[in-house]
Amino acid sequence: MTDQQFLVGDLKIKGNLVLAPMDGYTDWPFRSLCRELGSAISYTEFVKAEDVLQRPHYIQNKIHFTEKERPVFIQVYGNQADALLEAALQLQETGPDGIDINMGCPNRSIAGRGAGAGLMRTPLKVVRIMKTLTRSLDLPITAKIRLGWQDCQNGMLLSQIIEEYGGSLVAVHARSKEQGHEGQPDLSALAEIKQALAIPVLGNGGVRRVSDIDAMIETTGCDGVMIGRGAVANPWIFSRRDREEIGPAEVQELLLEHLERSLSFYGPENGLVLFRKFAAGYLSPYDLDPNRRKKILTETDPAKFKLQVRGFFEEIGQGD
Ligand SMILES: Cc1cc2nc3c(=O)[nH]c(=O)nc-3n(C[C@H](O)[C@H](O)[C@H](O)COP(=O)(O)O)c2cc1C
Repeated sequence: MTDQQFLVGDLKIKGNLVLAPMDGYTDWPFRSLCRELGSAISYTEFVKAEDVLQRPHYIQNKIHFTEKERPVFIQVYGNQADALLEAALQLQETGPDGIDINMGCPNRSIAGRGAGAGLMRTPLKVVRIMKTLTRSLDLPITAKIRLGWQDCQNGMLLSQIIEEYGGSLVAVHARSKEQGHEGQPDLSALAEIKQALAIPVLGNGGVRRVSDIDAMIETTGCDGVMIGRGAVANPWIFSRRDREEIGPAEVQELLLEHLERSLSFYGPENGLVLFRKFAAGYLSPYDLDPNRRKKILTETDPAKFKLQVRGFFEEIGQGD
């Protein structure tokens, strides 16, 4: 564990590794586990501003959190300052520690409509959003951005706008919108942004191993590192442990604990289905017969699923 800390507004953040928000992944079961393993902030999956206002039941699960999990930042996306403000005010009522605005999502249905990474093309709108939200809310407002679009690499400008208009932290995915989630992150561009800002900067993109964490911090001076996909097969990365350091007994224990949280949170049917992608991650390093893997990952009965998992770990765990 690390003794690093930094401030988001007045909020003291202990640690410098943070689970990245991921739609469909960073639900309460996974977030709470990662937080216990050392993730310093719990970011929810993003929720759409209009859903907060018009379909609150639809986002209820996504913004659920427990006291133990704090600090919790709820991430919201939208393309209108008014709707984002109304949504943020409503979200504030649920008691999070911060509100994060998504300015990095590259998906056509979001960026193409001017939200997510689409906001990076409209810096004046970002001024309006940051200004109104930071004035009207009593919580830190943060943002997650990219380096920009290929024809408009304005991550520096955007992060300066976020700081200038009261933002308390910026997380920078060090890729362009066009790169999506692939390709080499540009650490020197990230370093330039970090050096230009006084508010904390989280660096994000491509971190899979403890050595990647250290390289990102050394190269960029970022206050913290945000880890997305690398955490799915290895939530222990938040304790600065690479996956091959984790023995089968420990993998089995966390897998079953994660499953229990998923079952209790979503109910037995959905809980198992939504857990499958994590099970695939936990099992990914093992040389598992494809038919057996498929059988485990398509099992619909939680009790039978557990039996199969325990059987597998019993076989490979000998000598552990
Ligand atoms: C399946 C998936 C869902 C994602 N959902 C979100 C999201 O809701 N909000 C967000 O800011 N970024 C989202 N991202 C982007 C991640 O937060 C992160 O920036 C990206 O995965 C790069 O980090 P990594 O290389 O460590 O995975 C998502 C990424 C993936 C792969």
